[in-house]
Amino acid sequence: MHVYSAPAKIILFGEHAVVYGEPAIAAPFKTLQAQVTATPAPPGSGLSILGAADGLALHVSLANDRPDNALIYAAQLVLRALGKQPPDLTLELRSNIPIGGGFGSGAAVSAALMRALSAALGNLLSGEALNSLVYQVEQLHHGTPSGIDNTVIVYEQPVYFVRGRAPETFKVGAPLHFLVIDSGVSASTRETVSAVRRLYTADQARYGAIISEIGALVRSARQLIETGSQLEALGELMNANHALLRALSVSSTHLDQLCAVARAQGAYGAKLSGGGRGGSLIALIEPDLAPRLSAALRQAGAAQTWLMHLA
Ligand code: MEV
Repeated sequence: MHVYSAPAKIILFGEHAVVYGEPAIAAPFKTLQAQVTATPAPPGSGLSILGAADGLALHVSLANDRPDNALIYAAQLVLRALGKQPPDLTLELRSNIPIGGGFGSGAAVSAALMRALSAALGNLLSGEALNSLVYQVEQLHHGTPSGIDNTVIVYEQPVYFVRGRAPETFKVGAPLHFLVIDSGVSASTRETVSAVRRLYTADQARYGAIISEIGALVRSARQLIETGSQLEALGELMNANHALLRALSVSSTHLDQLCAVARAQGAYGAKLSGGGRGGSLIALIEPDLAPRLSAALRQAGAAQTWLMHLA
C-alpha cells in the first residue's frame, strides 16, 4: 500500500489576468493536501476510486471517451498515456483541501490520483507528463484554465507564471507570512472565469486595461518579493490587486468585508486568492498577529484560517 499526495495552491498575485497572458505569482500550500492510497484488488475486480470521506465509489473503464466525472477522466488519461488496461486496483482518496475554496482542490486530487495509478502500473509519470495530463483534467473543470494551478501543484514550487511559457521560480528576499483564509463560501472558478470573459468580450478596452494593470502590478510585486523589504508597499499592491479583481466582478461583499477586517486589524494588505466570489483570501501579516486576526475573521464569517510562510 502506497500513499501519493499533492498540495493545495495559493495565488499571491495576478489571478484572472493570467488567463489573458499576464504574469501571476503562486505558491504551494502544503498544510492542505490531497492523498491517494493504491491497494491491489482481487483479480477481475477492475479499477475503483473510493472517496474515504463522502462514500464516493467509482468504477473506471475505458469505454467512455470523455466522461463528466473528472476522477474517471484523470484515471483514463493515465491509462491511455501508458497504453494500459484498467488494473485490479483500488484508489482511495482523502483530502483536507476545501472544495470550491480557491485552493486548487481539483488539480491536487487529479495529481495525487495520477501519481498513484501510474506508479501502480510501474511507470510513475514525470513532472512534465503529469503536468500536461492534470491540465487536461483542469480543462474539464473550468474550460479555459491558464495552467497556473496544475503547474504549482505538480512541481510544488513557488512560480512566476506566464501562460504558454516555462514556469520561472523566483527568489524570496526575506520570509513572508500570510494568513490564508477560507471565506466559508464555495464558488466555481469555471463561472468566475466565464464572467470575466463576458465582460472582456463586451468591452475589451475597459477590461483589457484592468487586466494590463494587474499585469504591471504583478511585475512590481515580484521585485518587492525579491528585494525582501517594504512589506507596506507589498501589502498596498495586494489591496490594489483586490480592487482590480473587484472591478472584474469577482469579489463579493463578504470578501470585501473580510479584507477590510484584515486591514483594520493590522495586516499589511489583503486580497482574494483564486477564482473569487467566495473561496479563499490571503493577508500579509507579522506572524504574531495571526491569533487575533483569525478570531476577528471568524467572527466576520470566515470558516478557517492557516498561517503560511514563504521563504
Ligand atoms: C484559479 O486558481 C486562477 C484563475 O486565474 C483561473 C486560471 O488561471 O485558470 C482564476
